[in-house]
Amino acid sequence: RLTGTFVLSVFTAVLGSLEFGYNIGVINAPQKMIEQDYNATWLQRYGEPIPSGTLTSLWSLSVAIFSIGGMLSAFCLGFVSEWLGRRKAMLINNLFAFIGGSLMALSKLCRSFEMMILGRFIIGAYCGLASGLTPMYVGEIAPTSLRGALGTLHQLAIVTGILIAQILGLEVLLGSQELWPVLLGLTVVPTVLQMSFLPFCPESPRFLYIVRCQEHQAKRGLRRLTGRQEVGDMLAEMKEEKRKMEMERKVSILELFRSPLYRQPIIISILLQLSQQLSGINAIFYYSTSIFIKAGVQSPVYATIGAGVINCAFTVVSLFLIERMGRRTLHMLGLGGMCICAVIMTMALALLDSVPWMSYICMLSIFGFVAFFEVGPGPIPWFFVAELFSQGPRPAAMAVAGFSNWTANFIIGMGFQYVADLCGPYVFLIFAVLLLFFLIFTFFRVPETRGKTFDQIAANFNERSVGGMMDMDMDMDLDKPSTEL
Ligand code: GLC
Repeated sequence: RLTGTFVLSVFTAVLGSLEFGYNIGVINAPQKMIEQDYNATWLQRYGEPIPSGTLTSLWSLSVAIFSIGGMLSAFCLGFVSEWLGRRKAMLINNLFAFIGGSLMALSKLCRSFEMMILGRFIIGAYCGLASGLTPMYVGEIAPTSLRGALGTLHQLAIVTGILIAQILGLEVLLGSQELWPVLLGLTVVPTVLQMSFLPFCPESPRFLYIVRCQEHQAKRGLRRLTGRQEVGDMLAEMKEEKRKMEMERKVSILELFRSPLYRQPIIISILLQLSQQLSGINAIFYYSTSIFIKAGVQSPVYATIGAGVINCAFTVVSLFLIERMGRRTLHMLGLGGMCICAVIMTMALALLDSVPWMSYICMLSIFGFVAFFEVGPGPIPWFFVAELFSQGPRPAAMAVAGFSNWTANFIIGMGFQYVADLCGPYVFLIFAVLLLFFLIFTFFRVPETRGKTFDQIAANFNERSVGGMMDMDMDMDLDKPSTEL
């Protein structure tokens, strides 16, 4: 039974994801307007128009500094979430969003691109923490049978945020010369909502019990979340995890790589994050308009919004499939589909000059690419890391995973344009090769976690590292790859 408190808690947590998505999508549409304001500021300060190289650098910095903020804060996730607790960390993180949003919104009025760049950095820092705190909190309060579906809500909120930003960014709405500061400032709306709802959400009982040893408060939280008076069975499961955790030393980031117990799951976590980012999805989301123009599509802005709608729709599909088909199968299906779409897109782009209708094939293959992304590689890596680790190593592992994700995001954001200029229509072949590699990796290395408690998942890795020392056999009592496929 899902109680009101449970629904409110999940909803409040994913407001952070919504804000994350909004800030990914918001910078695409008003680029020209904001650049004109940078130019006006330059003119006022130095009495001459801004040199085009300087403008490009300032713009690239405004876009990419977001990922640097995310990288840095994601790395602090472990420390912050243990020190403050999940709920208070989410609450205090909102200060970043508030400051970042205000700086961006006021930058035009104050004629300062420095404020805009600083604002993007700070909002990036907010998003880095939110991208870890939300799946961590939701994963910890979710019942085992719904953990995957609820984990997917994080991605659903991200893609909804992207879509809202794409639509509001239309020039007829808020993407105009006068209104772009409102567009960027709107990011404080989910912040205010989250701050008002958080006091009514319980702290993660798992955190309270296992980390803080507060049995009484943990029980109260469980009762509120489940609506049941009798929560002994859930507590017993946590007790078992706590008992095992007490036998281990505190897990630092370094130890994740040193200890044979964690090496395997941490490598899987990093590679899953890389499979998400190096799939090339953000090449589409950051540069879709120019890709659609190159592909000869008539209304590139609307095609971009079309990609956003498909992005949302297929995240919902994944939400319903995840507990039926499992993480592994969906991830492989997504990677395989994206790989095929990337090859078709390349062929279509290469033939575009001689066969004009190839622009449709190109657009369809981009839509397919996005759809397959959301079936698996979009939502799964975010919550899978929380599933692979028990309470002790989880914060450190999520910090490492988040850092890898944001670093790869930064590399694509900065590098794609240059590589695209170099490779022309063949640029997506690079992603096709990477996707194939990640598909093979997933087939051989990634276990299925559906329906398993955190303790069972950790125990499976422990067994494997103790017996057979890193024997990569997929048996693990988990579903076998052949039957999954
Ligand atoms: C995932 C990625 C993010 C990407 C989004 C697209 O959340 O982490 O970088 O922009 O999916 O839907």
